[in-house]
Amino acid sequence: MIRVRFVSADGASVEEVDGSPGDRLLDLAQAYGQPLEGTCEGQMACSTCHVIVAADDFARLPPASEDEEDMLDLALGATRTSRLACQIELTETLGGLTVKMPPGARDMRRR
Ligand code: FES
Repeated sequence: MIRVRFVSADGASVEEVDGSPGDRLLDLAQAYGQPLEGTCEGQMACSTCHVIVAADDFARLPPASEDEEDMLDLALGATRTSRLACQIELTETLGGLTVKMPPGARDMRRR
């Protein structure tokens, strides 16, 4: 299993979950009720799956494609370590990955 930590936008809560190799980070986040809409389901047309990767973990991810970089330009609250969760596939080398929800992420658990 691959441990992933989801940190709330305000940093007040951390949820640790386990995924499997090949799982998409967006799917894992949604399965555990994290506030990522992922409206376009990975077609890179929305940027509502934007997460902020912990600085120490960012270099462990494969580089973003040009299309992903273009979509990140449209993401609210994007930082230098922002990525699209729909483009991140879990691998054994990503164990301990920590990602934070962006400012304004809508918490669907409170709907
Ligand atoms: S789900 Fe739309 S860009 Fe990731």
